[in-house]
Amino acid sequence: MKTARLIAMRPVWIVLGLVAAAGVGLATTPTQMQVMESSATGGLDLRLETVPVPTPAAGEVLIRIYAASVNPVDWKALMPQRGAAAPRIPGRDVAGVIEKVGAGVTQFKVGQAVFGEVAPLPSAPLNGAYAHYAVAPATDIAPKPRRMSYAEASGLGIATVTGVRAVQHARITRGQRVLVTGAAGGVGSAAVQAAKARGAYVIGTASARHAAYLRSIGLDEYVDYTAGDWASHIRDVDVVIDTVSADNATQSLRTMKRGGSLVFIAGHPQDGACEAAGVACQGGALGAMNVPEAAESASTGARGGGNPVIEEILQLANAGKLRIAIDASYPLEKAAAALEASRKGGTQGKIVLVVDAEKAGRK
Ligand SMILES: NC(=O)c1ccc[n+]([C@@H]2O[C@H](COP(=O)([O-])OP(=O)(O)OC[C@H]3O[C@@H](n4cnc5c(N)ncnc54)[C@H](OP(=O)(O)O)[C@@H]3O)[C@@H](O)[C@H]2O)c1
Repeated sequence: MKTARLIAMRPVWIVLGLVAAAGVGLATTPTQMQVMESSATGGLDLRLETVPVPTPAAGEVLIRIYAASVNPVDWKALMPQRGAAAPRIPGRDVAGVIEKVGAGVTQFKVGQAVFGEVAPLPSAPLNGAYAHYAVAPATDIAPKPRRMSYAEASGLGIATVTGVRAVQHARITRGQRVLVTGAAGGVGSAAVQAAKARGAYVIGTASARHAAYLRSIGLDEYVDYTAGDWASHIRDVDVVIDTVSADNATQSLRTMKRGGSLVFIAGHPQDGACEAAGVACQGGALGAMNVPEAAESASTGARGGGNPVIEEILQLANAGKLRIAIDASYPLEKAAAALEASRKGGTQGKIVLVVDAEKAGRK
């Protein structure tokens, strides 16, 4: 009886063997996927929709998303606008596996675990992170650090890139006194850890409920910004990384030595204030993974493709010196609640959207 059943199944095994031998995957990419989509007029009232899975153009990859992280820019970009706009899939930061590679992509292979940034592209105008699949230029993704789960690695996009790039721009070195404002947030947490890894003495501002967390990521000194004139409690700072606001950046100049360096990421200090304080101020948009400076850097062998920010992130993450704390996670369908939580403020680390509940927690 047993033998008879085996013989009867044999043709099936032969077909499967031939398919595998031909290199054709058994699981095919679906043509449609579920996404969270905004209305044409904007706002945080997202709907679950079914849309076509995008196709990677030359130089791009298709990522099967296991987790996405939420950034303040996600809800800022959805603020209702005057006049008609197109519906969009929000979100930029993803982690998952390569599903397909476009022509000319040789640095990634199907099935590889990656994290990166996605955005609307000419070939995929709806493209966004709050989805099961997204396309990205191969230059905007990197291998997922093995120590991190997909959920954690989804937090290595905009905020971590910004924090680590700010540390690079300020050229932070051993022994410097560094102030990171908004130290518990996505950008602040990355800046604190990258500055600590360079041997700096790091002071951070945050509200009191983040004190234990900030100690756990290595902060040396913590100042509660809710307890009055916080800037008067801090002095002789070489470098400020301000992640809060233009006004906060202006206040933070009071803590600095002349000749210091300030990197602002959430607003330029008041006109003339940097000059009056004798401080070099720089900043602006620092969150994109792939920028021209990438081509100029020598590779350190961390598989960051010669991009200095990605290389430093991978080195720190692989050495256990950069971790992503997950403040809260929401299923993809609850993306509106996740955006609302980010907008409310007080984020500690990153807010994460779980797209594939089975895979997001895996390393
Ligand atoms: N320029 C760029 O390229 C770029 C890139 C990324 C982000 N950004 C911007 O940078 C800002 C921070 O981003 P993020 O991703 O880190 O945001 P986040 O994850 O929401 O974190 C913000 C943090 O700031 C804290 N905070 C709020 N007010 C504060 C104050 N007055 N002093 C000290 N801490 C304060 C919050 O918690 P508590 O209030 O509980 O302490 C929270 O931990 C946002 O405005 C974002 O849009 C800019």
